[in-house]
This record gives sequence, C-alpha cells and structure tokens, in this order.
Amino acid sequence: MSKTIVLASDHGGYALKSVLAQALRKVECVVEDLGPDCTSSCDYPAFADKLSKRLLDAGEEGQNGQVLGILICGTGLGMSMAANRHPGIRAAVCTNEFMARMARAHNNANVLCLGERVTGQGLALEIMRAFMEAPFEGGRHLRRIEQFETHSMA
Ligand code: RB5
Repeated sequence: MSKTIVLASDHGGYALKSVLAQALRKVECVVEDLGPDCTSSCDYPAFADKLSKRLLDAGEEGQNGQVLGILICGTGLGMSMAANRHPGIRAAVCTNEFMARMARAHNNANVLCLGERVTGQGLALEIMRAFMEAPFEGGRHLRRIEQFETHSMA
C-alpha cells in the first residue's frame, strides 16, 4: 500500500514545500498539502498543529509509518517544537540523510522537520527519501519511545 505524505510549512518553508510536493507527485504515494498556498507571512504553530492533528486522526497508520508528515519552516526548529507538544507526535529536525534514517529506525519519527534556510533543495530531497524509506526497527527502540508518554506526564 502506498504511503501518505502530509506536508505543511510557514512562509519561510513555502518554496521548499513546493519542491518536495512536486517530487512526491512523481512517486507512488498520496500527497496532501495542508498549506499555506502562498508566501504571505504566517505563524508556524498553526500549521504544525493542523498537520499533527491530521496524523493523530490517522490512528495506527499515523504511528506505523504509513502516514508521515513533513513540516518546513526557516530552520525546522519552531515546527518541531510546536509539533512535539502533541503526545503521539515524534517530530525530528534532520539536516542529513543519516539523521533521517535514524529518526525513523530508532525513534519512529512520524514527522520530518526541515529548514528551508538551512538545507538546500537537493539535500532536502535526499533527506525526505531516506525518511520515507527507512523502517522503524522496534524492539528496544519501541520500549524507549513508549517512555516519552509516561515520562513527560510525570
Ligand atoms: C519565520 O521568520 C521563522 O521564524 C520560522 O520560519 C522558523 O524558522 C521558526 O522556527
């Protein structure tokens, strides 16, 4: 079954979002663009929130890598901070392919955060590919990520 990739950005990530969406439409996956649809200044928490809710609404598919999110702002930092406020969202800022592979393999990250002002388009495409392809390894890594929810509530 093909993956669903849900994208959102702020104005600082709009151009890179367009590049990634265009590339995704050429491969076998379902692409959902949650906006914005122009470069007017906007607030990244609203888009992080929208995408996080979409993933959480996807239930098991939003947890098992079948539905993945990509959030892009100027640095990726604000988006990751806002998205990680949602229990069940594991958003990872990645600046290289190794980080993207490990974010999936060890952390079961369900959201990739990118910085348009940090990462060039070619590298961002490779990071996205690595993130989409790497499976979660489970086992001891599952035990560890389960502690995110229990420890954060303590
Ligand atoms: C917007 O100027 C910028 O602050 C935003 O895109 C992001 O980098 C925040 O973390």
